[in-house]
Amino acid sequence: MRITIAVLLLAAAVPLSQTASAGQAGTRQTGPSQSVSTMSELMVKVIYPASDAIFYITTREPRTEAEWVELQGKALMVAESANLLMMPGRARDQDRWMADATLMLDAGRAAFRAAKAKDMGALDALNDQLYTSCTSCHQHYRPNYGRRPSPAATDAPSTPRTAEAPPDPPAKPAQTAKPTLEGRWKLRTAQDLRADGSVARLPWGEHPVGSIIVQHSACYVQIMSSDTPSFASDTATPGEQMKAMQLSSYIAYSGPCTINDADSSVTLKVDAAWQPNYLGTEQTRFFRFDNGALIFGPAPGSIRAGNEALTRRLTLDRVQ
Ligand code: HEC
Repeated sequence: MRITIAVLLLAAAVPLSQTASAGQAGTRQTGPSQSVSTMSELMVKVIYPASDAIFYITTREPRTEAEWVELQGKALMVAESANLLMMPGRARDQDRWMADATLMLDAGRAAFRAAKAKDMGALDALNDQLYTSCTSCHQHYRPNYGRRPSPAATDAPSTPRTAEAPPDPPAKPAQTAKPTLEGRWKLRTAQDLRADGSVARLPWGEHPVGSIIVQHSACYVQIMSSDTPSFASDTATPGEQMKAMQLSSYIAYSGPCTINDADSSVTLKVDAAWQPNYLGTEQTRFFRFDNGALIFGPAPGSIRAGNEALTRRLTLDRVQ
């Protein structure tokens, strides 16, 4: 008897879409739409890379027809993702959440139009609107980054998701222990990862050395390989090989930078760099903290190696 009641209670707590997908093969699924990802996955794997293309439009201006089409796709993804946020099961309430998601829908739709018109000015002008659409929802529904439910809890299909974040989260106490990018970080590892998380290559060899310093809105990044190369004796002179080696194994750049906590990114206006073509560019890097370590790198999938799109991941430890 007790078991029956427990089963009934459980069944009642599982949202429709999930009971449907748990049904036997051949059963027609009842929900008109079904979430496939968690909220966090939708943000990280779809919305964030898509919106990034619009945020950094001025430094990544499409040059070819194919690039414009790609940008149109990303703008469309931003707009349509807003619909995904409004789906039953994802929407956390029917008013503020919907209003916040609509901001994103509007910004995405405008971006899609501008991308179709190849209107750089309009795309650039949309940045604030799009940015506000992310931050206003985050302020309302993602107020405390440190208190998010564990992935295990959100992924488990039997976990009812109806009781997620209340519409008006109570004001939280000041987060004194919140990790910050400010300070000095020493490089531990540098890896280029494939989409499946496996290591494709070590961009600065087995023993990279380097540091990132973020102080009072100024950022310094320096990385080199500490492996001593053995130069082939038959081809070019050792001096030339050393020059080539240094060029490919050393990077450094610095400049004023702005930390954007809304999407855990830092944007650096490069005023000095090892490579002249970095000068004057804006470089955006993303960071998160893992057990006190800093995980730092450019946008996921932004490193090209042949046909592969790799994700660069630097792991650093705090020095001070
Ligand atoms: C209607 C609400 C809403 C909108 C609009 C929204 N987000 Fe989010 N976002 C969330 C919620 C809720 C979370 C927390 C998800 C979680 O951890 O379960 C989140 C988390 C994130 C995360 C962190 C995910 C993680 O697991 O670390 C990123 C990155 C992110 N959003 C990017 C964006 C960007 C970029 C935009 C705008 C283009 C945006 N979001 C718009 C609600 C929203």
